[in-house]
Amino acid sequence: MSDDLVDLYQDIILDHNRRPRNSRKIHTATHQSEGINPLCGDEVTIYLDLLDERITDISFQGQGCAISQASASLMTEMLKGLDLDETRQHSKILHDLLNSEEDAQDALLKYGNLAALSGVRKFPARVKCATLAWHALEAALRGKDSISTEEEL
Ligand code: FES
Repeated sequence: MSDDLVDLYQDIILDHNRRPRNSRKIHTATHQSEGINPLCGDEVTIYLDLLDERITDISFQGQGCAISQASASLMTEMLKGLDLDETRQHSKILHDLLNSEEDAQDALLKYGNLAALSGVRKFPARVKCATLAWHALEAALRGKDSISTEEEL
């Protein structure tokens, strides 16, 4: 990965960590779940408003490392307004992104800002940081109150 791309990915993660998008509680959420990383104790709660199988609003609250918070922020920005099929496709995209050997430049073109998370591929413990919010999202959609990153995405 080029130094420029490393810098860009770091900037995206730092920006979302410093100025998280959709960081608030939805008091009338139709679905919510807390994701917990037992390795560090960090947690992210996802709130969803689902209407006719479409995410009309999504937000998160939590505390944790920059990657876990940036991933939650990127996720909420990306999924608002999508239907459940599109949401599942995005979960698969994240899974593919974190498990592929795809060139970082290609990943940026294909996945947009989400590609900023691809830097964690080489660090298994950090992959759990990047997937924490997505675990919580899956759990919320299954009607589960909480989930641990020990479970598979
Ligand atoms: Fe805890 Fe990243 S170190 S989620």
